[in-house]
Amino acid sequence: MGLDTRSGITGSARARNIEASASMALDARAKALKAAGQAIISFGVGEPDFPTPEPVKQAANRALVDDATHYTTVSGDPALRKLVAERTAEFTGVPFSWQQVIATSGAKEALFIAMQLLCDPGDEVLLPAPYWVSYAEQAKMAGAGVVPIETSAPSWKLTPSALREALTPRSRALVLCTPCNPTGAVYSDAELAALSEVLAGTDVAVVVDEVYARISYVPVGRWLRAAPSMADRTFIVDGVSKAYAMTGWRLGWLVGPSELMQMASAVQSHLTSHPSSITQRAATFALEAHADVEPTIDAMVATFRDRRDAIVSGLSQISGVECSLPEGAFYVFPDVRGLFGRPLGPKGRVVSSSNELAAYLLDDALIVTVPGEAFGTPGFLRFSYALGMDQLQEGMARVQEALRTN
Ligand SMILES: Cc1ncc(COP(=O)(O)O)c(C=O)c1O
Repeated sequence: MGLDTRSGITGSARARNIEASASMALDARAKALKAAGQAIISFGVGEPDFPTPEPVKQAANRALVDDATHYTTVSGDPALRKLVAERTAEFTGVPFSWQQVIATSGAKEALFIAMQLLCDPGDEVLLPAPYWVSYAEQAKMAGAGVVPIETSAPSWKLTPSALREALTPRSRALVLCTPCNPTGAVYSDAELAALSEVLAGTDVAVVVDEVYARISYVPVGRWLRAAPSMADRTFIVDGVSKAYAMTGWRLGWLVGPSELMQMASAVQSHLTSHPSSITQRAATFALEAHADVEPTIDAMVATFRDRRDAIVSGLSQISGVECSLPEGAFYVFPDVRGLFGRPLGPKGRVVSSSNELAAYLLDDALIVTVPGEAFGTPGFLRFSYALGMDQLQEGMARVQEALRTN
């Protein structure tokens, strides 16, 4: 008796439980509409609109010429891992060896591995909301439950009392994103120290996602600098995607306590083994902080800052929209609840959720945004300002017209 192919199969319960990334789906839709000739302006983008710095690309070319085209050490080239260990020690004041680092295919894989390391079925992962949606789905893939902890504008920061209230005997890990996607909130050392005091008497691990640390308009607090005694249960996630405009190269890293990082290596050895050998060479070059790379990055951050000011000013002119000033990353996350139930724009369209508002902006103004529902916080819209100033200004004019209340 052969296989019955007619009955079809269903995905596993685990896979059926996973939701696709809403921002990636929106980005795909925007790209498709653009390709079809529509004059789309996308505020949905999650990556710098700058090219990878030229000297970094040259480093990749050299890697090809040098035949660096084979497997590297599992979990990454020691040269790259040493640089990451040194930088992490420099930022935090805590010493790290290169064996405590694994290079991953993007920060996303580092976060995935961290969840695999930490969580058993029934464990709880604490997520300050709004949160980057992959944290929740990756926690679910590791069998854990998600416990969102609400934060609120204008600071959007997790407070020690809210953290204390959310703790249960099943709490396994807290994921902190600073600077935060989607709110742009940046924690100071003092704020991090206050949070660490709440965790002092527990065995909750902390996963700190610092992928936007280079793109900040205020000094970035560092968890381990504020709470060095937590080094034995802290995992730091970072990468070159956002900082060096290298999203497509897929290079991130995970840094953590020695014993668990051996397990992380074991997990990765059955997953991707290591990121692309060429990418690793390029990232190593980027992290060497060359004098012909760093000024390009500083200029990128300065440009992001100008755009942030322009978009906050544009959104603040709309009646019914409340927009706080983000301190880092390249997103703004305005409150749009004041628009619900009111006739909007030339056609007097009425919406009652941020999902509906995002759909209206796409259909009627060809503007892409990401609704707060995608981050566990309905009533808000995320606008990325990783687009040129001309597009940003034109996009803001369209948004202002579409959201006009009469
Ligand atoms: C908060 C946050 N963490 C991690 C990532 C993943 O970065 P990578 O492209 O390096 O996988 C992103 C990408 O959008 C992000 O916004």
